[in-house]
Amino acid sequence: MNRRDWFRYGTAGLKGLIALTLAVPGAAYLLTPLLKRREDDAEFRRLARLGDLAVGEPRSFSIVEEQRDAWVTYPATPIGTVWLVRQPAGADEPVLALSAECPHLACKIKQSGDGRGFVCPCHASIFGIDGARVNAISPRGMDRLEVAPVDPDDPNSEIRVKFRRFRTGTEERIPLA
Ligand code: FES
Repeated sequence: MNRRDWFRYGTAGLKGLIALTLAVPGAAYLLTPLLKRREDDAEFRRLARLGDLAVGEPRSFSIVEEQRDAWVTYPATPIGTVWLVRQPAGADEPVLALSAECPHLACKIKQSGDGRGFVCPCHASIFGIDGARVNAISPRGMDRLEVAPVDPDDPNSEIRVKFRRFRTGTEERIPLA
């Protein structure tokens, strides 16, 4: 191989390197929305099917998650509870998902004795069937969670909820990391 060949191959290699340097961030830029959408989808947990719920009758569902650190995966443990409330036909949202963690001081909210709303056993916060405050003990209503689109006409439609926890003791709903 003479000097001219070395120069030619060297130039070609350099061009390839420059093309690769530009292509990698470009590909990442194009793929990021797809990866992000998959990540978002994974955040929705399937809790029930529409047909499992009766209109206006709340049902609670545990959120269970595997905990892991650098070395160990621990058995799945409950990390929260969600109340699902099916809405009457024609409602904007077929199902409401409400966190059972009280926005006052994080006790677990239960269904009221008459089944028409919710109460917190710790300091007697009362909430309506839609999670709105009925008295002023809790600084805000029950925290609503995002529900993936549901087909209101299909009893097999899955109810998938994005579980989140929020800061307690504040009027504003502030998600925890
Ligand atoms: S923790 Fe629920 S009312 Fe205080």
